[in-house]
Amino acid sequence: MKVFAGNSNRLLAEAICNYLNLPLGKATVRRFADQEIFVEIGENVRGEDVFIIQSTSFPTNDHLMELLIMIDAVRRSSARRITAVLPYFGYARQDRKPGPRTPISAKLVANLITEAGADRVLTLDLHAGQIQGFFDIPTDNLYAVPILARDVKENYNLNNVMVVSPDVGGVVRARALAKRLDCLLAIVDKRRDRPGESEVMNVIGEVSGKDCILIDDIVDSGGTLCNAAEALLKNGATSVTAYITHGVLSGGAVARVTSSMLKELVITDSIQPPTAVQSAHNIRVISTAALIGEAISRTSQEESVSSLFD
Ligand code: R5P
Repeated sequence: MKVFAGNSNRLLAEAICNYLNLPLGKATVRRFADQEIFVEIGENVRGEDVFIIQSTSFPTNDHLMELLIMIDAVRRSSARRITAVLPYFGYARQDRKPGPRTPISAKLVANLITEAGADRVLTLDLHAGQIQGFFDIPTDNLYAVPILARDVKENYNLNNVMVVSPDVGGVVRARALAKRLDCLLAIVDKRRDRPGESEVMNVIGEVSGKDCILIDDIVDSGGTLCNAAEALLKNGATSVTAYITHGVLSGGAVARVTSSMLKELVITDSIQPPTAVQSAHNIRVISTAALIGEAISRTSQEESVSSLFD
């Protein structure tokens, strides 16, 4: 078995290799003057079980193209099996047609990865579980919830915790955390009654006096999160902390979070945190290296991956 990585998340790839007690495979991924990507695999992969780690995070298109070209290079070097490991699967939010004459880009990206030559996909907290069906190759979708739950247990008195979904779409994810922690569940319901009117945030559930734990898959602009936190505090919550798997954190998101009323935003390293995150006083990063490393090991040994979540 050999593990390679593109440029999107070298730190996580190295931590995964550390867990697996393997050196990160030698590969050069560089740019020609016109920004075309060139890949060279620096060691023999003939007959090997190869894992390529690459999050398709910002700059999304460059990282996606790096992944596709790496898969092609490894396939043409006669690897026995290729698993594309995407700790963060970009384009996942484009999983259906939001209107007439629009694409389903998540499906297109799944086709590209398959067509490039991947035999399997391993990913984490897909925006929608159904995206697994966009691939006609085996796809394992890992869940960060056990890691997040462990962190909540270490930092909070569970008797006073209320798990909260920041929108109606995230209830299934929030329920999974509430179940693991044996805590109650609340929901922030965002409504705009008439076009042009501002959104009203209704909190479903009694959050007064509670330490609220918001859970979501993605924090991008930070809008969903900060608005939900404000609504919870207005409804009497004692504190609001957010646990979010993928810290996309575009534009001014880090500044928005640092100046918000959030006690803390906890994200994972599925996307390599920019330097602004490291200096933010209320953002903390926890690692998925052991989870992904264990899933890679089990895939390679043909052992159960789902039992990681029992
Ligand atoms: C939406 O369906 C996702 O689960 C997230 O809630 C959303 O992507 C967060 O985006 P933002 O931080 O820009 O509000």
